[in-house]
Amino acid sequence: MNPDVTILYDSIRWEEKALLEAGKKKDINIQMVDCKKLALDLEKKPEDYGVVIQRCVSYYRNLHSTAALEGMGVKVINCLNTGVFAGNKLFTHMLLKKSGVPTPDATVAFSKDAAIEALENDGYPKVIKPTVGSWGRLISKLNDKDSAEGIIESRETMYPIYQIHYLEEFVKRPPRDIRAIMVGDKIVAAIYRKSEHWKTNMALGGTAEPCEITQEMEEMCIKAKKAVQGDIVGVDLMESEEKGLVVHEVNNTTEYKNTVRVCDVDIPSLMLDYAMKVER
Ligand SMILES: Nc1ncnc2c1ncn2[C@@H]1O[C@H](COP(=O)(O)OP(=O)(O)O)[C@@H](O)[C@H]1O
Ligand SMILES: [Mg+2]
Repeated sequence: MNPDVTILYDSIRWEEKALLEAGKKKDINIQMVDCKKLALDLEKKPEDYGVVIQRCVSYYRNLHSTAALEGMGVKVINCLNTGVFAGNKLFTHMLLKKSGVPTPDATVAFSKDAAIEALENDGYPKVIKPTVGSWGRLISKLNDKDSAEGIIESRETMYPIYQIHYLEEFVKRPPRDIRAIMVGDKIVAAIYRKSEHWKTNMALGGTAEPCEITQEMEEMCIKAKKAVQGDIVGVDLMESEEKGLVVHEVNNTTEYKNTVRVCDVDIPSLMLDYAMKVER
């Protein structure tokens, strides 16, 4: 029997197991495919994958397997454009602005000298982020010229993507941010991520609490999701003291374990309902 849905993964986390369990309960035929073991003959017709839910953690594996499957005619959630746009914080920033979604002010500089000059002109603190990355990795707060020089100099020795110096205003806000999980045009659940560290990522020890979904938040998240052409995404927002709600990231392979736990919403089941209904 051909699968209804394929879960494409490279490591099995709680999220992937939960999707499989939800599929069993709903009598949906789920195929689990380990992308690390996958060799696709691109000249052949696609085998039947059904709808693919893309769950690869590796940025490159995620992007390239989506490109291959989508090119072969398979519907992938999220699509290649979303992987490209949401996978890169600069690309997302530009699209959010174009769509009228409030987002932190940012500058991109293409050398250490240009970055330092921009920082000296505009002032500290600023946040430097790799344009491609997650779990708060290699995101640093630049408090003054000394720390900025050290951090940017070390990036100049790294892989070229880290030499794109993406600098954001440091947003003054409560010690938390918001993660809103969108399935289609709806926030199905949202959490506050609280932390003593300024980076509130769960991967860095943040704690989750349910967050009430407001109309303002939902309208903003719909625009953000559309800006990156997403189907199922995790939108990260901050409550800026100056600007109100701002979106700082859209996650195309979002984690939702803690959102399910504290909000008691069956996100995997809603994801599968969406995948079963979506146009192929
Ligand atoms: N401009 C900013 N000002 C203040 N805090 C920020 C800013 N950008 C990010 N953060 C904090 O750092 C965390 C990680 O940033 P984010 O852009 O979401 O990157 P990642 O992809 O690594 O999750 C956010 O969840 C938030 O707590
Ligand atoms: Mg984030």
